[in-house]
Amino acid sequence: MLGNFSYYNPTKLYFGDESLNFLKDELKNYGPVVLLNYGSGSVKRNGIYDQVVAILKEAGKTIVENPGVMTNPTLEKLNEGVKIARENEADLILALGGGSVCDYSKAVAASVYYEGDYWDKFWLKQQNPDADQKLLPVGCVLTMAGTGSEMNAGTVITDAEHTLKMGHVFDSRLMPKFSILNPKFTMTVPENQMKAGIYDIMNHIMEQYFSNFDDNTSDYLAEGLMRSVITSSRIAVKNPQDYEARSNIMWTATWALNTLIGKGKKQDWMVHMIGHSVGAWTHAPHGYALAAVSMAYYRRAMKNGLPKFVRFAKNVWNINGDGLTDEQIAEKGLQALKDWMLEIGLPLTISELGATNEMIPGITETTVVYPAGYLNLTKEDVTEILKESM
Ligand code: NZQ
Ligand code: ZN
Repeated sequence: MLGNFSYYNPTKLYFGDESLNFLKDELKNYGPVVLLNYGSGSVKRNGIYDQVVAILKEAGKTIVENPGVMTNPTLEKLNEGVKIARENEADLILALGGGSVCDYSKAVAASVYYEGDYWDKFWLKQQNPDADQKLLPVGCVLTMAGTGSEMNAGTVITDAEHTLKMGHVFDSRLMPKFSILNPKFTMTVPENQMKAGIYDIMNHIMEQYFSNFDDNTSDYLAEGLMRSVITSSRIAVKNPQDYEARSNIMWTATWALNTLIGKGKKQDWMVHMIGHSVGAWTHAPHGYALAAVSMAYYRRAMKNGLPKFVRFAKNVWNINGDGLTDEQIAEKGLQALKDWMLEIGLPLTISELGATNEMIPGITETTVVYPAGYLNLTKEDVTEILKESM
């Protein structure tokens, strides 16, 4: 392990089909007013809302509801949540949903007691709250696996007016205080969202794996997680009700992005930067936007990162390299990735997501570009990647 780093993750996890039982214990740690954030209604249809509300009522909490948190939550909705939390003096924010609701809840938690322009400070300027700023605690009852938002400090918010999707990873103060992960709750996730979540997990791991060439424990962990998500995804796509596969997917998602496997790594995240921009323009599910630009991106990255792509082919996809050049082995690894994406039904082009040639300049313009894993992209390169992904 080269370099110096700290590892601290304060999120307490409760995992399994009985994990919601622990919510009542957690609630004892917080004041009476709970801001309950949820999305467009799936939690009401599948009964999770009723279960959570019953526990909140039994604990004597005052419930302030904030429904309608959309997928890819907007700045406008953030403003609304901040206002509700201020007016009701919320003590705890409880997120009931997927990554969008969880991200959104952290965004509200960071902004409630900031008196200035929180969008400018936290997302545009990428700053953290000052040391003396009060932050609200967040708990999460997760209903969809993918983002890892349940155990990280990431918050992705979209300024719809300017078609700008901005992520900010806060410091550990904004990590959820607790997260409840019941794989059964993910069983009602629509098939396309389940697949999007699966690729999101895979890509989070790849974004961290495809950087550096040193021998690093993080890469061995990453390879194990990738093998797990590939195995479980194949089962879950055939039988979405397979608890074992869905539970593996949920647990892998958490470990894919709770900062552990990024330790000692430069990391990449350019697929996410381009994918976020595609998402802002097309409103595609997050994981689909990533999938659709991945092949064009990784074909480029392979040229500079050849030894790691050879390792990816051998250790993740079991490619037998006998008699092959490194380039041929790496190619076979990328082909295996593509075949798996086709097998589980992921989109491989942005045109499938509704992107048009006319959108490419705008998508390029709103993509945040920086020197990443093995590449130092220019805006022109981003345009080329988008064209190759059409
Ligand atoms: O609106 P509701 O009713 O909640 O329905 C959601 C939504 O339509 C539905 N859903 C979730 N759980 C369900 C369910 N439907 C039926 N049964 C259930 N159990 O699925 C749809 C998608 O949900 P959403 O929360 O939007 O998906 P996801 O978990 O993929 O979150 C996406 C957001 O997370 C951000 C993305 O950019 C995007 O805004 N990300 C956050 C990250 C982080 N915090 O570190 C990293 C990621 O890379 C990502 O950028
Ligand atoms: Zn992601």
